Amino acid sequence: MPRSAPTPAPNSVARRRKLAAGNWKMNGTAASLAEVKKLKSLIRKDRLAADILICPPATLIERLARMAKGSKVAVGGQDCHAKEQGAFTGDVSAPMLADAGASTVIVGHSERRTLHAERDADVHAKAEAAHRAGLVAIICVGETLDERSAGKADDIVKGQVSRSVPDAATPKNTIIAYEPVWAIGTGKTATAADIEAMHHTIRETLRARFGAAADAFRILYGGSVKASNAAEILHVPGVDGALVGGASLSAAEFYEIIKAATPKRPRSIKAA
Ligand code: 13P
Repeated sequence: MPRSAPTPAPNSVARRRKLAAGNWKMNGTAASLAEVKKLKSLIRKDRLAADILICPPATLIERLARMAKGSKVAVGGQDCHAKEQGAFTGDVSAPMLADAGASTVIVGHSERRTLHAERDADVHAKAEAAHRAGLVAIICVGETLDERSAGKADDIVKGQVSRSVPDAATPKNTIIAYEPVWAIGTGKTATAADIEAMHHTIRETLRARFGAAADAFRILYGGSVKASNAAEILHVPGVDGALVGGASLSAAEFYEIIKAATPKRPRSIKAA
C-alpha cells in the first residue's frame, strides 16, 4: 500500500494486479466442476499475471476450493449474512464461507439489491461481516438505465460507494465492482469512455475518504464481459479486472478473459 507517495493522477495504474472474477450466480452442480478442472489445465500452461477467482453457488464452494487448492484459482461466495450465526433460515454467514474455503465474498450485487431489497446499509454490514471473517469483500455498485438516462449515474454510484464501503476498508480487504445494472446479462456493455469516467468517479470518491491509499483499491467492471470484448474493457484506464457472469461458466471462454486480463509484457529495451 502506498504510504506518503504524491497523489497519482486519477486512474493511474499504480501496480494494481488485475483480477478476473467469475460469478456463477445460481448456476452449477457437481457436473460443473469439470469446467474448473478444464480451467486448471488451461491456466497451467501459461504464465498469467492476473488473479483468478470463481464464486460458485454456496453448495459448491467446499468442493471447488478442494479442487483449486495449489492452483492459481481462488474461491469466493456470492453473498453473506451480516451476522455470524443465528436463526436466519437459508442464509450463509461469512465465517461459514471462510470455513468452506472461500477467500472472498461478493456483497451488494444488483441482483441482491433488486430481488432481495438490500440497501446500502445492508451491504455495508455484510462487508463488515466479511472483514471480520477475514474475507475480501467485493462490493458491487451500479446505476439503472433510468438513473443513467436521467443523468444521475454519477451521484447514484458515489452514494452507493460512500454508504456501502466500511471505514475499515483497505485495498487488501476490499474490491469495488462497478456493474451498471442495465449491462448485466443483457449483452450490452458501457462504452469505454463511460467505464473510464465511472471508474474515475469511484476512485475519487475513495480518495476523498481514504487518501492516497485509495489508489491501491482494485475497481472491477462487470456487465456482459465476454471473450470478445474483454481485451478492450480490461485495458480501459482505471479498470483493474472484470466481474464476469455468464461467460465465466465456460472454462474456455473464461480462460480467454483471464488471458485478456494479463498485462502485456513491455518489450525489453536493449542497453545502449
Ligand atoms: P453477466 O456477465 O452475465 O452480464 O453478469 C455480470 C454480473 O452480474 C457479474 O456479477
